[in-house]
Amino acid sequence: MAASTDLDSNIFFSKEYADNPYPTLKLLRDEQPVYYNPLMKQWMVTRYEDVMNIFADTENFSASPNGDHIGQVFGPTLMEFDGEVHRKLRGVVAPEFVGRKLQPLLSIIQRNAMALIEKFTAKQATMIAEQAALKGEIDIVDDFATRLPLNVILDVLDLPQEAHEMFHGWYPAMMNGISGGPELRIAGQKANAEYHAYLDPLIEARSVNPGDDLLSRLAVTEVDGKRMTPAEIKSFASLILVAGAETTDKAIANLWYQLLAHPDQWQAVQQDPELLDRAFTEMMRIHGPAGAQTRKTINDFTLHGVTIPAGEYVHLSLYGANRDERVFKDPDTFNLFRDDLYFSKELRSGYFKDGMAGHLGFGLGPHFCVGYQLARAETVIGTKLLMEVIKNPRFKPGSNPQPIAIRIEPWHLHLEFDTA
Ligand code: HEM
Repeated sequence: MAASTDLDSNIFFSKEYADNPYPTLKLLRDEQPVYYNPLMKQWMVTRYEDVMNIFADTENFSASPNGDHIGQVFGPTLMEFDGEVHRKLRGVVAPEFVGRKLQPLLSIIQRNAMALIEKFTAKQATMIAEQAALKGEIDIVDDFATRLPLNVILDVLDLPQEAHEMFHGWYPAMMNGISGGPELRIAGQKANAEYHAYLDPLIEARSVNPGDDLLSRLAVTEVDGKRMTPAEIKSFASLILVAGAETTDKAIANLWYQLLAHPDQWQAVQQDPELLDRAFTEMMRIHGPAGAQTRKTINDFTLHGVTIPAGEYVHLSLYGANRDERVFKDPDTFNLFRDDLYFSKELRSGYFKDGMAGHLGFGLGPHFCVGYQLARAETVIGTKLLMEVIKNPRFKPGSNPQPIAIRIEPWHLHLEFDTA
């Protein structure tokens, strides 16, 4: 095994790396594009073309590592399976969020965004009346980003909006259980068990008397001629709740962060809100919610002269790939007008030709994100509606605004805006 020694692997556990992984990822791309990380016992792949090819290579790479963390909290889900088993399970949910099926979801998104904005506006009105304040304040995270995707997914599963606060507590605990240490894992399993207990009577009722919602569909769908077991349905429902809420919340906050950090581009989208779609794509490239995915080698695999033995973990760095200067000019700059990024609808097989490349923030290949269109619609529609309400927004002085990735920390994006 050709272990790499000249980078101190402790860096990957540092706050410095968590806050800004990009200098380290650049070093790896340039000097060790296949790097064995002895502390994490993973091979790190950081160049765009390599990450893209490995996502597509199902002969040599398995998605089974998704079971190691996600499976421990939710139970087995489609994410950890390969081949035919994966294809069948994915077929149960994938069509629910794209194409024609997305249309009714757009009005659900709009309705939920408006309801949140109304709630927030009422809160502001009271504050302003009480304090005679000339400026308003919003925490994009707590007032909006962590609320909208959750409410949409509750509507999709037909779970009651009145119970929002309960789900709002469960979903981050479940996510932290996937990525955190033993204590967080236990807390995540507890939240998951509470969610499952809550679902039990609903699944029973909907399997007899199904409605038009996704939970009913899961309760009655047959895979290989048999209905799924209640345990399988509940793992699915956990995945949909967390995948649907936990990533899109960061996409919304990161889009606001990037636009406000680049006032000229904020101006441009204000003048032409159609540009929000481009801004979303560029946000997904420069710093999307998901930093990496893990695969396991099925066979020995040689890349750049380094052989990764069969059975090893491979860390595919989406953050490394999306800032690869071999593909994107000036990759550390947020620029929604760049001419080397493919701005059309994301493709499962990727886009890499004519001097343009697609971002890899939703992964690629058989496990390509099921909710990619929903996430974009929520972020763009939600942002557009909110933009109309808060005037002249800017980062709250002293608030240290930062883009966020999925990680275990309280996070906020405090803004001020004009009320008169
Ligand atoms: C900006 C927001 C989102 C990001 C960054 C994101 C990212 C990803 C990534 C990188 C994967 C690939 C996993 C792998 O290759 O192992 C994935 C898969 C998945 N995503 Fe998303 N996602 C987002 C939103 C959503 C939404 C809204 C849903 C809700 C329906 C969703 C549901 C799923 C599911 C079910 C899978 C598993 C697909 C499979 O294994 O075949 N995601 N997502």
